[in-house]
Parts: sequence; structure tokens; C-alpha cells
Amino acid sequence: GKRLFHEGMSPGSQPRKKKSKFMQFQYRKIVFLTGAGISAESGLSLFRGKNGLWNNRNPEEVATAEALLQRRSDVLDFYNGLRHDMAKAKPNAAHLAISWLQQGYSGEVYILTQNMDTLHEKAGSENVYHIHGQINKIRCSHCHNVWETWNDITPDMPCPFCRAEKSLRPDIVFFGEEIMFTSVAEDLLRCADLFVAVGTSGEIPPASRFVWEAWKNGAKTLAFNLEPPANSVCFDRLVLGKAEETLPEFIKHQFMTV
Ligand code: APR
Repeated sequence: GKRLFHEGMSPGSQPRKKKSKFMQFQYRKIVFLTGAGISAESGLSLFRGKNGLWNNRNPEEVATAEALLQRRSDVLDFYNGLRHDMAKAKPNAAHLAISWLQQGYSGEVYILTQNMDTLHEKAGSENVYHIHGQINKIRCSHCHNVWETWNDITPDMPCPFCRAEKSLRPDIVFFGEEIMFTSVAEDLLRCADLFVAVGTSGEIPPASRFVWEAWKNGAKTLAFNLEPPANSVCFDRLVLGKAEETLPEFIKHQFMTV
């Protein structure tokens, strides 16, 4: 059938905000939880499994506040590298499918993402909550100001607000730190009637428990993943395959009336 989404489609070419009469209303509030797998086809690294970032590196070495203190330049370099990759990456058909649903569907559609990349935003999505933070946000540990940049953080870069030295870090969540948007996630999971996990291994709490929260509150729960996630028993339905293929198909067949 006609390809609903293709890489060349820019967010601008999406139907702006007009609620499409071709979409049938079934769920009031749809909540997506996305992970590294949704961005795999856009060329970004996974954390676990094939070529995962944590395969040949212990996360404790680069993804903890302790590591930032002990090995500041290694940690900053690691995230500078991810920031370069993420700056260049383009959204794929899975990101575009969610954005298209958000713009055409008369129910509410929210995205909780574990990803630090901005591919949902580049695909034209709104209501995106980065629960593990965002790679293009920088934070000063001294004055706690947060600002956006795609540039490298160098070890001695002074804070542009308070001038403190060696106090800048990526505004992301290290292992052992609280996730962001906890209360937003709780509210969304309390009243979602459809919960869709896409491209996440279901290994890392609290995100790996979101499906349980949603299910407890009566949501239908679906997982789109290349292989069964660790928490696959919690899902009503598991759709195996590449999200850039399975998700557009699902959205087309589930929501399009024509
Ligand atoms: N389509 C769908 N799923 C895919 C695809 C694809 N094209 N490619 C890979 N996957 C699946 C893999 O099978 C795997 O289950 O995506 C999942 C990626 O799992 P992880 O690499 O563990 O990524 P994620 O679940 O986002 O990790 C959670 O761990 O290290 C922390 O903070 C980091 O946010 C990250 C969190």
C-alpha cells in the first residue's frame, strides 16, 4: 500500500494540527514510551544487544556522577560523541508515524522517551518528555541553570551564568540519579487507556515498570520491539520487528478509517 511515512518527509509537510476525519477515535489518552530501538534505524546506538554502547564499556565508567568527578574529560568526551551523532541524525518512519498520529488524531497523544536524542521533536512531535534528559541540554552543577546547545562541553568551560569552573555537565540522568518528569509520567500512566512501548529492552526501572502502572490503571498495553523485552509478560500484545516498519503499519490499520 501507499507508504504513509518516508524519511524525506519533513515535519513541515505533516498535516498541521487539523484533526483528520480519516482517523477513528478509540482511545482518549495514548501514551508512548520510547527507547533507543526507535532511533536505531536513524543510525543511533543502542545501549544493550548488537553493538550496544554498554557492550564494551561499563556504564559505571561514564554514566555516573562519580565517573564525572573522577574522569571528567572522559565522561564529557563520551557525551560529546553522542551529541555529534544525535545532532546529525534524522527521524525515521517510526518517529514520523507517532508525530502524524499526534497531529491528526482527536485523542491526546503523549511521548515519554528514555532517549537523549531529539528525533521525536525533529519529526514534529509535541508533548515529548525526556525522562532521562536531553543530550543538547547542559546544566551547571553550581547555579543549576540549564540551557540548550549542540556544542562540546570541554572540561574547563566556565558556566556562562555563574562563571564557575568544572561545573558543567550534560543535563541527562546518570545511573543512580532520579529520573525527570516523574509526576508527569505518574499522571499520564494513571489515565492512559493505551500504552505503547517502542524500542526499549525493558531493563531499566522505573521506565520498565511503566507498563505495569498503565496496565493496573486499565490501559491496553502494546510493545513494538525487535525481540521480546525483559518485561514482555506485562504487555497485552507484543509486535516483533523493526519499529520503522511495524509502527506505521499499526497506526495506519488501527486509526485510519479509509
Ligand atoms: N525496532 C524496534 N526495536 C528495536 C530496533 C528496531 N529497529 N532495534 C533495536 N531494537 C530494540 C532492541 O531489541 C532492544 O530491546 O530496542 C531495544 C533497545 O534496548 P536498550 O539498548 O537497552 O535501550 P533502552 O531500552 O532505551 O535503554 C534504557 O538504559 O542505559 C540506560 O539511560 C539509558 O535510556 C537508556 C536506558
